[in-house]
Amino acid sequence: MNRAPTPLVSLPDPAAARRWCADWRARGRTLGFVPTMGALHDGHLSLVERALDENDAACVSVFVNPLQFNEQRDFERYPRDLGADAQLLEGAGCTMLFTGTLAGFFPGELDARGELLPAAWREPGPSATGLEGDLRPGHFRGVATIVERLFDVVRPDRAYFGHKDFQQTLVVKDLARALGYPAIVVCPTAREASGLARSSRNELLLPADRERAAVLSRALFAARDAWCAGERRPARLSAAMRTVLADGPATLEYAEIRDPERWTRDEPVGPIERAVALVAARLGGVRLIDNLRLDEPA
Ligand code: PAF
Repeated sequence: MNRAPTPLVSLPDPAAARRWCADWRARGRTLGFVPTMGALHDGHLSLVERALDENDAACVSVFVNPLQFNEQRDFERYPRDLGADAQLLEGAGCTMLFTGTLAGFFPGELDARGELLPAAWREPGPSATGLEGDLRPGHFRGVATIVERLFDVVRPDRAYFGHKDFQQTLVVKDLARALGYPAIVVCPTAREASGLARSSRNELLLPADRERAAVLSRALFAARDAWCAGERRPARLSAAMRTVLADGPATLEYAEIRDPERWTRDEPVGPIERAVALVAARLGGVRLIDNLRLDEPA
């Protein structure tokens, strides 16, 4: 839907955002929330569009959350451009943007070294085991901790997440179930023409690697072809992905199958009736993830 650009309310700290959201809700209006780490792309904008369709306002947070990074270097080089993000959000008709610092999100909850006190952490639920949870220890604990705090600031009716971070959507659903709010809406992955899933991290890829990175989606599509041909054994489906990725430009971390509705730490052994294919690989020093539901129409 084309929306006339509206003036974006831009707030520099969580306290101001909390007041704005409380005032909005006090007027009986609904709020859709899109949490982000910035470096926004079409995938994020599709979440904002959906939030605007389903609520009276869309609110976006931009905060590169240090709690969820395993490597300091990865945190430091994560792309940041708040000015460009604000312009994109204004063009998309977003209502409010807020940002903040760790101390702003957790006032009085940091120690003298600036680290979060143990009581302020949120332990993630059962979906945090396996794959990303095993390869990035503490990552989902950092995600659950900041997302709980972001929800507490905004108190949204609905929160919007991209399917691309599939395991994260499960972790966030675990959290929302424990908190009793908000409704979690998972939106389709936006892809480049090559099939590469849109991601803020794509900005870190060299131009040639950006083309090569489409090998991840080609692997997922190979698993879907096998599924459509009747294959239901997870080991065979993941083997189809590994064949595409073998000797390719990317260093594979995993290419596995899960039942999307019954998350397990390990790949299921017997034939399954629902399947999501998940892949993670490194290319030119950039870690990329992608996934595809095999049991849903393309
Ligand atoms: O998906 C992301 O960008 C982040 O993990 C999130 C949900 C904004 C939490 O920092």
